[in-house]
Amino acid sequence: MKATRIAEGVYWVGAIDWNLRNFHGYETEKGSSYNAYLVLDEKVTLIDTVKEPFKEEMLSRIASVIDPAKIDVIVSNHAEPDHSGALPFIKGIAANAKIYAAAGAGVKDLAAYYGDLGYIGVKAGETLSIGKRTLTFVPTPMVHWPDNMVTLMTPGNILFSNDAFGQHYASDERLDSECDLPEAYIQARKYYANIVQPYGMQTGKALSALEGLAIDKILPSHGVCWTEHIPEILSLYRSWAAGTYDDTAIVVYDTMWHSTEAMAHAVEEAFLACGLKPRLYDLHFCHNSDIVADAMTAKYIAVGSPTLNNNMMPSVASFLTYFKGLNGNKKKFIAFGSYGWGGQSPDQVFEALKSPKCEPLLPAIKLSYKPDAEQLAAITADVTAALKGE
Ligand code: FEO
Repeated sequence: MKATRIAEGVYWVGAIDWNLRNFHGYETEKGSSYNAYLVLDEKVTLIDTVKEPFKEEMLSRIASVIDPAKIDVIVSNHAEPDHSGALPFIKGIAANAKIYAAAGAGVKDLAAYYGDLGYIGVKAGETLSIGKRTLTFVPTPMVHWPDNMVTLMTPGNILFSNDAFGQHYASDERLDSECDLPEAYIQARKYYANIVQPYGMQTGKALSALEGLAIDKILPSHGVCWTEHIPEILSLYRSWAAGTYDDTAIVVYDTMWHSTEAMAHAVEEAFLACGLKPRLYDLHFCHNSDIVADAMTAKYIAVGSPTLNNNMMPSVASFLTYFKGLNGNKKKFIAFGSYGWGGQSPDQVFEALKSPKCEPLLPAIKLSYKPDAEQLAAITADVTAALKGE
């Protein structure tokens, strides 16, 4: 397999995972890539590696431009195994290579995974000359692990951003200027929502740290590289990190005999009446990771569950766990559900949603058995009144 030239002396030597469909619970319908980059300078430098099963693919791409044993420097921007899994393998081939990682968490995490490979810890602003080029290390802790850092290479103004600005998007095109750009934006949003979203404050700080730097290329560790649309992706990240709302409202539910579904539509009517754009998700058909991507910019979320064996439906419990772990901005919520005789689920949904970031718009809405038109109209009226009272 061949390396892809990205800039003078800079090559993509990663791997494409066309068949990845699940990344720790995140549905990756477009696959992914693990991007490693090779810089040919006085010190031959490898930026990040790939997931372990793809190590031979990376090796063959490196070997298409240089003998892999000649690598002098390996930068590990992040220890998560999708980027470090092939590190021991490549270190075994390039025995004299020095491995640089964030001082503290980066070195500690790599040692925990792979033992002592002689890591060199680097601190904020520390530089490393590799010949004509200089690497500057910028820690970005909690975007999205404690060890994350990015590496700026000058001249050339190339930011090796690791997970930041990435997308789970398998493609033979390496650049934003060549790929299906709308798809890249969709996948960048889904990636942010499912990986980075809980760390908006840290992302804001990381963006501020990059603010004054001249950046001509952003080379992430997943998906396509940003070369012609850097202002756009930076602007999207600023907006997501700030928790900016749009005019959508999210309605998520499961249903046994269509009663909770009918209640979901009654809530939908209220959102419409207030000029919002409701989006409905039946958990029989919709994946948690797609819902949180859409929910990221919504101010309102409604979640409904029938009562099953004195509990909310397992699908709803799963969604609430996933949503609560990721939600990054303040939202107003509505809990609702139908029941036969127990009726516990709406209150359980209410309690599960309540948190410093999610406040109730009104008390839990409950109806027994099949709701009639009058009851549904009352739900629409109550939710509309609560929305208008905001
Ligand atoms: Fe792509 Fe945090 O690993």
